[in-house]
Amino acid sequence: MLEEQPSAADLDLIAEFEPRFEMLDANSLVALAENAPLGDGGVHASNLLAQALEKDPHHHAAHLLKEQLHQMFVPRWHFPMLADTVRNQAYAKAIAAKVQPGDIVLDIGCGAGLTAMLAARAGAKHVYAIEGQPLIAAAAKQVIADNNLSDKITVLSKWSHELIIGEDLPNRADVVVSEIVDSNLLGEGALATLTHAMEHLAKPNARAVPESGTLKAQLVESAGLRNQYRPLEAEGFDLSAFHKFANVAQVTPNDSAACGLRPLGPTNDLFHFDFTCPDMSHGKTTVPLFCTAVGTAHAVVVSFDMVLAPGISVSNDLNTDGHWGRFSYLLEQATPVSIGSQVTITAQHDATKLSVSIHDTAQVERPIIWQRGVTTRTPTAHETTQPNATWYVPDAQDGPVSDRPVH
Ligand SMILES: C[S@@+](CC[C@H](N)C(=O)[O-])C[C@H]1O[C@@H](n2cnc3c(N)ncnc32)[C@H](O)[C@@H]1O
Repeated sequence: MLEEQPSAADLDLIAEFEPRFEMLDANSLVALAENAPLGDGGVHASNLLAQALEKDPHHHAAHLLKEQLHQMFVPRWHFPMLADTVRNQAYAKAIAAKVQPGDIVLDIGCGAGLTAMLAARAGAKHVYAIEGQPLIAAAAKQVIADNNLSDKITVLSKWSHELIIGEDLPNRADVVVSEIVDSNLLGEGALATLTHAMEHLAKPNARAVPESGTLKAQLVESAGLRNQYRPLEAEGFDLSAFHKFANVAQVTPNDSAACGLRPLGPTNDLFHFDFTCPDMSHGKTTVPLFCTAVGTAHAVVVSFDMVLAPGISVSNDLNTDGHWGRFSYLLEQATPVSIGSQVTITAQHDATKLSVSIHDTAQVERPIIWQRGVTTRTPTAHETTQPNATWYVPDAQDGPVSDRPVH
């Protein structure tokens, strides 16, 4: 199997065999690839496999290993991300708004090269496109050459914290572009990367795309999500003791559509991050999530708004259908709620991770008065203007709250 770190013997072996590639058959090249160290990000193993496939285009093991390498070093989300036209257009507009002719642009994490090419198109004097994963960096170079932008863009196969001003870049950058956020903004290390970049790689008061991001939370009803992650039974057997392993669901856009996540109230902000001057300190907040609809609360969904430039933002909230997934924190118990109910959560973050704990929902109040034909409080303006909010007066024959046809 593939090893993590090259041993001295491995390095000697590679050095010895590399000049003799032409003399090796496909099986020998694949055997070398299988034992190649991966500390170089899979570059050497990829080269060996490319040569094996040149000799035998249908070599089974070579195809399997090549795929294994690609899955390991080129995360699959790159493809839906590049197909996310809303994201791409927002970045195109924001970069055009922020980059001025003559600017030196640092694109941190260029991936396939899209953001770097947008900066070049926006008039940058030169773009330094940094990509820590060497297989991806090599592909970006090719993409940029294919688009006749190699004279405007230098691709560096490095992590941004390895960059040296005066060696890798002639000077600090006027603009820092990045898109290194996962579905909760933090998981790809944006805080640490941008804290370092704005301090050490950018000019004072440099412009940044994105400028800021906000994490927010919202109560949702989704019997589909609950059934998918916490099925009560299978073939008549009680599975509930297994539910403790299903607290956080990483809901893909497809899951989200299939499970029909229905917001039960507005979002409430958890944390705000200023990416032009990031702060690495940890955060903790306790906030109420309000309900403006009647239903059954199954989960708390966390999403983000990210401001790329004034008036230009991207989001993965429930009104969007882009490529980012959403973290959903499942309630212990499906909880009936009505207009005015509130569930309290505590959210905490460090430099790369978010945790959300949900306070006991057994005490959740249901402030609408459940008497036939009578409401004892006046709906607020907000409640009456919510398109989904309905004052509901239950009938004595009504079934469980979640079955009620109020929406
Ligand atoms: C989400 S992709 C974005 C690609 C491209 N900028 C775009 O928007 O289409 C982020 C890329 O950044 C790279 N990356 C993340 N942090 C980095 C860092 N600190 N230095 C260099 N590359 C980084 C990852 O390997 C990944 O390829």
